[in-house]
Amino acid sequence: MPTQASKTGKILLGISGGIAAYKMPMLVRLLKKAGLEVKVIMTPSARQFVTAETLAVVSENPVITEFFDASGNWNNHVEMGLWADLMLIAPATATTLAKMATGIADNALLTTYFSARCPVMVAPAMDLDMYQHETVHQNIKLLEKHGVVVIPAEDGPLASGLSGQGRMPEPETLFDVIIKQLNPVLPLKGKNVMVTAGPTYENLDPVRFIGNYSSGKMGYAIADSFAKQGANVTLISGPVSIEAPKHVHRISVQSAQQMHDACLIAAKNADIVVMAAAVADYRPEITESQKIKKQDMLTLNLVKNPDILNELGAIKPAGQTLIGFALESQNEMQFASEKLQRKNLDAIVLNSLADEGAGFAHDTNKVTIIYKNGDVNALPLMSKTAVASEIVNEAIRLHFSNTFANS
Ligand code: CTP
Repeated sequence: MPTQASKTGKILLGISGGIAAYKMPMLVRLLKKAGLEVKVIMTPSARQFVTAETLAVVSENPVITEFFDASGNWNNHVEMGLWADLMLIAPATATTLAKMATGIADNALLTTYFSARCPVMVAPAMDLDMYQHETVHQNIKLLEKHGVVVIPAEDGPLASGLSGQGRMPEPETLFDVIIKQLNPVLPLKGKNVMVTAGPTYENLDPVRFIGNYSSGKMGYAIADSFAKQGANVTLISGPVSIEAPKHVHRISVQSAQQMHDACLIAAKNADIVVMAAAVADYRPEITESQKIKKQDMLTLNLVKNPDILNELGAIKPAGQTLIGFALESQNEMQFASEKLQRKNLDAIVLNSLADEGAGFAHDTNKVTIIYKNGDVNALPLMSKTAVASEIVNEAIRLHFSNTFANS
C-alpha cells in the first residue's frame, strides 16, 4: 500500500524508451491522487512504449517530447528544471544513464536534467546482462557521485524472457520512494529545542548600556541547523542585526534578566537546550531614568546578574540535554571542564580567545567540545555554519543516548 503523501510537491517525471514505460501512467495517477502536481517529459524513443496523449490526460498537463512544440514554440527546459521539487527519470535506459553521466544533452529530457536544481532520482531498467555490464555500472556510480539518487532495479522476469535484476520497481514502490524523498524523516521531528544567542545589554541610562561584541552568528546558525533537523526551535536572542532563521520562533530580549525570564519558561518543555548567548555577568545597580551628565569621575556600582545556565542545570528535567558555551582566555580546558561540572551540563563548547578567526563577529569559529564523561572533540577552524551542524549532530547523539539510558 502506498504511504500517506503530503499535499504539496511538484514532480517532474522523465520517461526514456524502455518497456517499463508502460507502467508510468499508473505512477502519474497515484501521484495525482495524492494531491501532487505532475509534469512529464519523454525522450523520442519512449513514445514507442507509451503515448504522450495518455500521460497528458492522467497528468492534466501537456507532455514535452521535443525541443519545440507543435506550434513551433520552444519548450523551456530551464523553467521546467526550476519548477520541480523532485525529478524522477523512470525507466532510465542504459543510453539515458550514459548521456546523463557524460553530459550529452540531445533531447528535452536531458537538457531538463542538466538544468534541474531539485533532487533527481533515476530508476534504471533494462535487460539482465545490460544491467550487469561494467559500463552501465560505472555510469550509475558516476551519477551517484553527482548526487543522483538511484532506485535499484528489482529481480524478476524480464521482457527478454530472462529472469534476474533489471526490472523497474512497480509504480506503488516508486510512489513510496518519491513520498519519502519529499518528506524525509527528520531526527528531531516533534522535539522542542531552545537556543540562546547574541549579547545582552544592561542599561545605564536611557542612551547607554553595558554590552559586548557578540554578533549572535553562532547561536543563529545553531538554531537554523536544529530547525533543518525538524525541531521546533525557540531562539531567545539578545539585540543583534541578523534576521531570524526560517521556521524558528524568535523571542527578542535585551537584558540578562529578560533573557533569564524567557529561558526559564521555554526550557521547561525543551528536549535540548543550547546556551550560546554572551550574557553580561553584571548590570548597573541603578538604571538612571535621565541621561547621566558628564562629571570628572564616575563610579558605577555593578550587581551580579543571574547565571541562567547555572539555574537551568540545577532544575534540569530528566531526559533534557543541556549544552553550554565557555569563552576562556587562559587555562581553557580546565576552566571549561569546571564550568561543565558546576553547571550540570552534558557538554560544553569551548571558544578560545587565543584562536585566530574564532569568537565574536567572525564568520568562522574554532571550538572544542568537552563532554560530561571527559571526552574531548577538538574541531578545526570552520565556518560558523559548519561548526553549528557539528554541535547539532553532537546534541542529537547525546540526546538520543540520554533518552535511551533513561528509558
Ligand atoms: N551564562 C548564563 N548566564 C550568565 C552568564 C553566562 O547563562 N549570567 C552562560 C553562557 O550562555 C554560556 C555559559 O554560561 O553558555 C558560560 O558563559 P561564560 O561567560 O563563559 O562563563 P561564566 O559562567 O559567566 O563564567 P566566567 O565569566 O567567570 O568565565
